[in-house]
Amino acid sequence: MANPRILLIIGGGIAAYKSIELVRLLRKAGHVVRCVLTRAGERFVTPLTLAALSENKVHTDLFDLKDEVEMGHIQLSREADLVVVAPATADLLAKMAAGIADDMATTLLLATDKPVLAAPAMNVRMWLHAATRRNVATLRGDGVTVMEPDEGEMACGEYGPGRLPEPAAIFAAIEAAIASAPVASPLGGQPDFAPANHRPLYGRRILITAGPTHEPIDPVRYIANRSSGKQGFAIAAAAAEAGAEVLLIAGPVPLPTPPGVIRVDVETAREMAAEVAAGLPVDAAIMVAAVADWRAADTSAQKIKKDGSGQVPPLALAENPDILAGVAKSPQRPALLIGFAAETNDVLDHARAKLARKGCDWIVANDVAADPMGGETNRVHIVSKAGVDSWERLPKEAVARKLMEKIADELDARIPRQSD
Ligand code: C5P
Repeated sequence: MANPRILLIIGGGIAAYKSIELVRLLRKAGHVVRCVLTRAGERFVTPLTLAALSENKVHTDLFDLKDEVEMGHIQLSREADLVVVAPATADLLAKMAAGIADDMATTLLLATDKPVLAAPAMNVRMWLHAATRRNVATLRGDGVTVMEPDEGEMACGEYGPGRLPEPAAIFAAIEAAIASAPVASPLGGQPDFAPANHRPLYGRRILITAGPTHEPIDPVRYIANRSSGKQGFAIAAAAAEAGAEVLLIAGPVPLPTPPGVIRVDVETAREMAAEVAAGLPVDAAIMVAAVADWRAADTSAQKIKKDGSGQVPPLALAENPDILAGVAKSPQRPALLIGFAAETNDVLDHARAKLARKGCDWIVANDVAADPMGGETNRVHIVSKAGVDSWERLPKEAVARKLMEKIADELDARIPRQSD
């Protein structure tokens, strides 16, 4: 697309100064930039700076009435090829999710028929707050691309996710949005972006569990397993890439959250079961986590000490809930329920038995004797009532993408889209 037109909405917050660098990058790449400053944004950057850098008029609430004569809100919001909100504050995201239009920026966002990309920036607690998580999920479901904020030390002194992504990263996301397969407009004229609803899992809500669980014995010891979380995280990334709204419930693994994914971290199987239940209903659930079958029956509040007597403390175990089997029996059972099975022998026989025992639709079975957990590749067999689909050994990312194609087809068959 020659000279893409970007409407950049700058929210309030200390990170607003980074929008100056973003405008510079966009202009350098030959993009046409029109800036809109919210009232709060104006406290951090001046319209004059932005006008000079963008070489274009800057819109603020202050000049609202005067501008309306020259160019209406609706026209302004549609004249762009992409609307970018950076920084997107918690307040702006909430208003966007609710459809509130009480100032220039939010009115434009409600009036636009163009793709929207939001780069959030806020305090870590605000980002992790249930209300913001709900708003982000709603916006993603509506087709808005909400970037993951960066993690690190914040202006307020706290640490965690919430920092505005670096201008270079926002610029890259803008380029990706622009490059996402321009398609000819059905109405003729200018080519437009491939809308999010052209992606195979657009409008689908998918829950994924990943990683191991840790079951505490005392404050310093726990029962765990060797799951790296790599396959589950690759699946979450591929699902988001395919346009789904993704909720990833992750055991303790040091992996970054894939872009576009809502992540909830848990430690134990019981915490995972509770978050899975809270995440329903979904269209598909993919249970990749290696959930510990047992936990310590009693956990000690204090570290268990060696007393020198040579006596070994007893370790009684209790069975953990089977999350997958529980979801299968739940009234909110997803239309497509998928379990994983890591086996060391008789892979297919065990997978068939598991399919029946757990009450799921597919079991994705893999032989972990050939490639121990934590590796980069996987050879999987998809076992269903219909038979077995065996794939060659592939990188985990490729397994994830191929699985998304199969899931998209299956969901289209099970929950036909309204337009079909
Ligand atoms: O029985 P097994 O652990 O081999 O079953 C594996 C499948 O069941 C995986 O999909 C895993 O996520 C799921 N599972 C579960 N809750 C458990 C144990 C396993 O959801 N307590």
